[in-house]
Amino acid sequence: MERTLSIVKPDGIQKHLIGEVIKRFQDHGLKVIGLKMISMDKKEAEGFYAVHRGKPFYGSLTTFMSSGPSVVMVLEGEGAISKTRELMGATDPKQAKEGTLRRQFATNIEKNVVHGSDAPETAAFEIQYFFNALEIFEY
Ligand code: CMP
Repeated sequence: MERTLSIVKPDGIQKHLIGEVIKRFQDHGLKVIGLKMISMDKKEAEGFYAVHRGKPFYGSLTTFMSSGPSVVMVLEGEGAISKTRELMGATDPKQAKEGTLRRQFATNIEKNVVHGSDAPETAAFEIQYFFNALEIFEY
């Protein structure tokens, strides 16, 4: 069993997509084992996206991610990382496959509705960034 972190980003919250995103994951065999609504400040967004520090989109991305509430969740399932990424589609909605969350709902490459960890090491870092052990549930 693998775990991954997903975020319904501030644009996804504004578009009332919390339920849609969670349903899509659950319908494809992913179990929600941690869930909360948060509001990142600029520093928290910068820490979360530290791997992108120095990239041209870093400033704008971290401003966007701290512009309003997000929903963060821990998902568990076989191949959870790749399954989540498949359901989200490519980062740029124009490149994302038909039927994926980003193709259907994203505004652009930045306001792309949803985030998912891209590798096991990233998932481990991202999960502990938002959740402590008491906030993750086995069932
Ligand atoms: P996410 O999967 O959360 O990972 C990094 C985020 O940076 C990405 O989704 C987008 O929201 C944002 N972003 C903005 N521009 C780019 C870009 N050119 N390449 C990758 N990510 C970008």
